[in-house]
Formats: sequence, C-alpha cells, structure tokens
Amino acid sequence: MSTQNKKHPDDVETTGHSWDGIEEFNNPLPRWWLWTFYATIVWALIYTIAYPAWPLISQATPGVLGYSTRANVRADIQRFEQMNAPIEAELVKTELTQIPEQPELMNYAVNAGEAVFDTWCAQCHGSGGAGVQASGYPNLLDNAWLWGGTIEEIHYTVSHGVRNETDPDARFSQMPAFGQILEPKQIDQVVQYVRRLSGQEADAALADAGAEVFANNCAACHGADGTGDQLLGAPNLTDAIWLYGGDVPTLTETVTNARFGVMPAWQPRLSEADIRAVATYVHQLGGGQ
Ligand code: HEC
Ligand code: HEC
Repeated sequence: MSTQNKKHPDDVETTGHSWDGIEEFNNPLPRWWLWTFYATIVWALIYTIAYPAWPLISQATPGVLGYSTRANVRADIQRFEQMNAPIEAELVKTELTQIPEQPELMNYAVNAGEAVFDTWCAQCHGSGGAGVQASGYPNLLDNAWLWGGTIEEIHYTVSHGVRNETDPDARFSQMPAFGQILEPKQIDQVVQYVRRLSGQEADAALADAGAEVFANNCAACHGADGTGDQLLGAPNLTDAIWLYGGDVPTLTETVTNARFGVMPAWQPRLSEADIRAVATYVHQLGGGQ
C-alpha cells in the first residue's frame, strides 16, 4: 500500500477508507499463515482425488487409491470366515448328538451360537433365552419343551420354525377356538380343571365337571393326564410353566380364542453351521434332553 496513508513511520498502513473518521487498517495476513492456507487447499485437492470424497447420487467418487472402509470390513469378515471355515465344516458334518462330545467343537458351537442367539433370537426369546413372561415366547432355559428338547428337535424347530407360512416343513398344529364349540359354562369348568391340573387353587365343583370336558375336548392333544404332546406342540398343562399364563382370565382367553404362536424359519437366513451352533447353544442352556 502507499505510504501516503501513514501518518507516522511506525503506524500501520490504512486502506484509505474512512467512515466518520474511523480508518481501516491494512494488516496483511502473515506469510506463514497464507502459505499454510494455500497448502491446505492443495492437500484437499490431492485428498479428494486420492480418496473417496465427493458425494454423487448413489455413491461418492471412489478415489484413485481404491481405499474403502467397506472393502476393509469385507476383507476382515472374509479373514474370519476363512479362519473358521475348517471348524464350521467340521460342525456341519458332525452328527448333531456328537457335537457335545467333542470339547473343541462344542466350545466353538456354544460361542458362535450365543452370538447368533443375541443377534437373531433374543428379541423374542429374551436375552440369554429366559423368555418373556406370558408373552407366548417360550423360555428356553427351563427343561420344558413344546416341540422337544433334544438337539435334533431343537435343530428342526430352528430350521423350519413354527406355524409360519414360509416353510412348508414348519412345525404346525392348531388348537381350536373353543368359544365356538363349548358353552361358556363348560369353558369355566375346564379352566378350573386346568387350574387344578397345574396345582393351583381351583373351584372344586367346577373342576370336577371340567374333567369330563377335558377328556372329551382337550385330551386328544394335551394328553389324558394333561402332560402335553410334543408331536403337536401341545404344552404340558401340569407343570406351572406357562406360555401365555395360568391365571383364570388368561386361561379363559386361551381356551375361548386359542393361540397361534409363530416362529420364523431360519434356514433361509442362517447358514447350516449357524443353525447348528445356535441349536447346540440352546440345547445346553436348559440342560437340554
Ligand atoms: C419373531 C419371534 C421369534 C424369533 C425371532 C425367534 N423365535 Fe423361537 N419361538 C418363537 C415362538 C412364538 C415360539 C413358540 C411357538 C409355539 O407356540 O409353539 C418359539 C419357539 C422356539 C423353540 C421351541 C421351544 C420348545 O419349547 O419346543 C425353539 C427351540 C426356538 N424358538 C429357538 C429359537 C432360536 C434359536 C431363534 C433364533 C435363531 C429363535 N427361536 C427366534 C418366536 C421367535
Ligand atoms: C388340536 C390340539 C389341541 C386341542 C384339542 C386343545 N389344545 Fe390347547 N393347545 C394346543 C396347542 C398346539 C397349544 C399351543 C398354542 C401356541 O403355542 O400357540 C395349546 C395351548 C394351550 C394352553 C396354553 C398353555 C400355556 O402354557 O399358556 C392352554 C391353557 C390350553 N391349550 C388348554 C386347552 C384346553 C382346556 C383344551 C380343551 C378345551 C385344549 N387346550 C384343547 C393344542 C390343542
């Protein structure tokens, strides 16, 4: 700037602009600052050419170095899969019932199975398989099984699911809605009978009358003694373990309208090794049969 805007030699130059007597100093940016600034621009240009940067419609510009966090994750996953491939192959070809006999395989199956369970099963069966009380989602920790608790039966249940429409081999059964079959009085009677069966407080007169209703309408699936039938997924009514609940209103609702518990089939979504792992995990949870 011209020196004409300096009043004294030491004064900072002004730009010559003046508003109501207020003058604007002319303080140029320090050199080092300016060059750093230019350097960052150059760096930014190099970076956006080298690395993924500018957003386009479906993805960003890929960058000439081909760097991608997704590819890194894919590579990591592949590395783990390769590492586990031999033991997974072993898991798939070993007889289900033999898995618990082989400590190394068992250890792998339980750990992998727990990870599968936490990802795919816990939202319905509760974390750790503890079930959600009276929700229709069974507790998998106890040793009471609707469809069977051997490792093979669990493997089948998990592979094909229950009452879903996607797998023709799904476990299937349907309790009738007795509201259309029995008189309300008979329902009251059989509900009291089920209360007695499960060792709960019950109205003696109604329960006595309910025994006959049960024998005629329920025993075919739940068994003459009420202990259930795993081929039909008909629960044992004599243990006090309830899928939906053992109080009078819930029992009345169950008998009147029936239930239709659905579990998805996992075969389409999980690998055979994962299904075997999770079946093994579930089997050892409840001290499976
Ligand atoms: C959308 C909810 C849902 C998810 C997710 C789910 N389940 Fe289930 N599962 C159910 C229901 C409901 C039943 C009970 C079906 C019935 O009433 O017979 C069931 C039943 C079972 C049974 C049979 C229990 C018995 O007593 O025979 C097993 C074993 C089981 N599930 C394991 C699993 C595993 C392992 C996974 C994860 C891979 C899983 N479930 C994911 C809802 C689910
Ligand atoms: C065709 C077979 C069938 C018949 C007949 C049948 N049930 Fe069921 N019952 C089932 C099945 C299967 C379930 C499990 C339903 C589910 O999980 O969605 C069930 C569930 C129940 C439950 C729920 C148990 C719980 O743990 O919450 C009760 C209670 C019950 N039945 C009582 C009866 C009574 C009482 C009768 C006779 C009036 C009867 N059932 C007749 C098949 C049958």
